[in-house]
Amino acid sequence: MSDHIYFFDTTLRDGEQSPGATMNLQEKLGLAHQLEKLGVDVLEAGFPATSPGDFESVKTIARQAGDMQIAGLCRCLEPDIDRCWEAVKYAKNSRIHTVLATSPVHMEHKLRKSPEDVLKMIEAGVRHCASYTDNVEFSAEDAARSDRDFLCRAAETAIKAGARVVNIPDTVGYAQPWEFAEFVRYIIENTPNADKAVFSVHCHNDLGLAVANTLAAIKAGARQAEVTLSGIGERAGNAALEEVVMALTVRKDYFGVTHNIVTEQLYPSCRMLSLTIGRPIPDNKAVIGANAFAHESGIHQDGVLKNPETYEIMTPQSVGRTESTLVIGKHSGRNAVRNKFENMGYKLDDTQLNVLFEAVKHLADRKKTLHNDDLIALIQEEIYRMPDRFRLRHVSVLSSDCGVPPTAAVIIDVDGEEKKSTGFGVGPVDALFKVISDILGQTPELEQYAINAITGGPDALGEVTVRLRENGYTSMGRGAHSDVLVASAKAYVNAINNLEKRKQEYKRPHE
Ligand code: KIV
Ligand code: ZN
Repeated sequence: MSDHIYFFDTTLRDGEQSPGATMNLQEKLGLAHQLEKLGVDVLEAGFPATSPGDFESVKTIARQAGDMQIAGLCRCLEPDIDRCWEAVKYAKNSRIHTVLATSPVHMEHKLRKSPEDVLKMIEAGVRHCASYTDNVEFSAEDAARSDRDFLCRAAETAIKAGARVVNIPDTVGYAQPWEFAEFVRYIIENTPNADKAVFSVHCHNDLGLAVANTLAAIKAGARQAEVTLSGIGERAGNAALEEVVMALTVRKDYFGVTHNIVTEQLYPSCRMLSLTIGRPIPDNKAVIGANAFAHESGIHQDGVLKNPETYEIMTPQSVGRTESTLVIGKHSGRNAVRNKFENMGYKLDDTQLNVLFEAVKHLADRKKTLHNDDLIALIQEEIYRMPDRFRLRHVSVLSSDCGVPPTAAVIIDVDGEEKKSTGFGVGPVDALFKVISDILGQTPELEQYAINAITGGPDALGEVTVRLRENGYTSMGRGAHSDVLVASAKAYVNAINNLEKRKQEYKRPHE
């Protein structure tokens, strides 16, 4: 058996199913580019049959990918498979990932099919996939709750019909590590022709065991791990890529396996995701959190000063948590800015460089030191954001403690036409949001408002995220600025733009 583990990243598919994690095409392309740099072997770009928007993103990512394999998900049904191939076929290396449930509860209540009918569907579906490509993955949904001998028959059928990867998902996060290891070992040992396929696992985190189950399965012979950045995904999420990777890396002595992940890109990748979906990385998050390498107690500090190995099993540098400052201020040239972004992995065309150059200068006027995170925030803000219907132009807020209610004045371009208004609120943020709602004629419910300092120090860039809800649609918005009120206004307008886009996207399939 090979000792190489393939990483299959599903941040853009299962990860996007996490509530509030919807991404637009530009954002997905930015992440896909970063995931390629991170060294993932397979990127699952989406589920093309679900919506025209998903189809377009998978197709665009496929066109732009390098050697990384691009997978699309589809049910085990011909029209789904055709649609999936239509989108992924543009990649240099395309994979069709087809899924059908094999557990008694799913077969009886969801599919309303007998086990024999399910085997026939697997045979026909996988064969249809294999008529397009020999890179076919079959997933037995809810495998962890399936009968193990039936699962062996399902895997055998899929392999015979042309699947080269057989995935064993713990769809509902029910398995326990020892039990799952034993289960996976049984399937591999009892499936005829198992050596013709790579066995994979895809674990959900409902009981907080996704990473443990993934590692246990690897120990038992699985050779592909399906994971997401920071573990985002349906419900409680998936196994966190960075945790599985670092467990295999730090404990190479125990697992004895290799992988292609560039560990120094772990933090930059998770940070990019966090900025994209507007969800800060918790301080105590394993591997990449701000406290993962901070030693607080005196005894620990003393030990680390004498020898870091006393309390550090990995270095911040090994996961890319290095703080590098930009020695570029307002007097630096365009080339220095281009070089800095290129060193961080962003290739810019001339138009993008011009936009970013202006933004860097503008920020450098207000902030002495620019950190990598400030720059990632700028690129998210200026480049990866889709063209918006509503563009914030100017904001002014007055606030006092002498009984006069906070007042806001705002100017916004609506479809290119300038609109302005003023008004009061209970607090300055409330005043701003009321005036913006008034100008745009929209009054969504504010579900969440959060401020986060992107970097340390009094001149830190403030990052505001808001979540809005209207008629069952939800959207996230993000804004970064050295003035948190301006950041708040940007986040609010961004969320309203995203809400508009969501409504349009949902309308399209029914037109
Ligand atoms: O959780 C699951 O079973 C899935 C499959 C599509 C692999 O996401
Ligand atoms: Zn899943």
